[in-house]
Amino acid sequence: MKRTRSIVRGVGSYLPKRRVTNYDLEKLVETSHDWIVQRTGIEARHIADDDETTSVLGIRAAEAALADAGLTPADIDLIICATSTPDYTFPSTATMIQAGLGMHHGAAFDIQAVCTGFVYAVSTADKFLASGSHKRALVIGAETFSRILDWKDRTTCVLFGDGAGAMVLEAQEGEGTSADRGVLTSQLRSDGRYREKLYVDGGPGSTKTTGVLKMEGREVFRFAVGSVTDVVQDAFDATGTTADDLAWFVPHQANRRIITASADKLGIAQEKVVITVDRHGNTSAASIPLALDVACKDGRIKKGDLVMIEAIGGGFTWGSALIRW
Ligand code: ACO
Repeated sequence: MKRTRSIVRGVGSYLPKRRVTNYDLEKLVETSHDWIVQRTGIEARHIADDDETTSVLGIRAAEAALADAGLTPADIDLIICATSTPDYTFPSTATMIQAGLGMHHGAAFDIQAVCTGFVYAVSTADKFLASGSHKRALVIGAETFSRILDWKDRTTCVLFGDGAGAMVLEAQEGEGTSADRGVLTSQLRSDGRYREKLYVDGGPGSTKTTGVLKMEGREVFRFAVGSVTDVVQDAFDATGTTADDLAWFVPHQANRRIITASADKLGIAQEKVVITVDRHGNTSAASIPLALDVACKDGRIKKGDLVMIEAIGGGFTWGSALIRW
């Protein structure tokens, strides 16, 4: 049966100018390049200057995705921005990006699912497009996690980076099979009982401050591998596909060991795994679109390829989406 699919028209990304290596961090906290690489796979990350706010990064990524799609803001009628580091408590970063693009029509709003934010945003945009209410969506993941880190806490400050990535999705009719182009399925989960494993200890409604990131790294690690594999398997089952059908696995880039262990458990060959955590660090909701842009621009992801994205983040939230490019 024919159905409306959300086709990827273009992707783009933007990184802050300042690149910070593990060696730079050795001067800040008691750590070493070797420890960080061995435990996480991270070698460097980009850190935003004061004038590079989340919306500024998001606008640059959105402009790049529009250029890649050969479209202008006039062609877009929906903007969804996934972020946990908005410029302000309100208005939403999405409306600031909308204004920055010179766009005064359509709807714009933020989604907050921490590192799973981009998967939640793709899933939400897909439902808007499938309903027929909107035609083309700009889906953005933009973060400045450097602003919510305790730069004296070596257990967290070495893990994260800043950046933004964006994708243009367009409604097009498909045959309703897994051979269609577009978002074939998305699987979203959350379990709020895990709040204290990974959270920011401030907010407007509690402390009236921004707070800093707190994480029980080992607990997150343990939960991550199991939850991610479950939700990826659910996406395969929902579409009648298997790991062998995948061209590319583009996971949230938190830790190389989590990525490798998840791929192994799912039977996904390591050559199909896109890894950018080495150069970006964990950029939360921005990590998947940043990685997608790298793999599209270097020619790995091509039209017709089956691509699995997945993430887990604070909440906990987790999810996956299977997209035929
Ligand atoms: N440099 C040197 N030593 C360090 C550092 C550091 N930066 N950080 C911690 N250590 C020390 C610890 O103090 C500890 O020392 P001890 O044994 O003397 O007590 C030792 O290294 C081992 O620490 P662990 O925390 O047990 O190290 P582990 O192997 O678990 O690695 C890590 C830590 C990298 C944080 C890992 O647990 C991890 O990646 N967890 C998952 C994080 C994640 O994926 N988050 C994703 C979601 S993020 C989001 O949603 C915002």
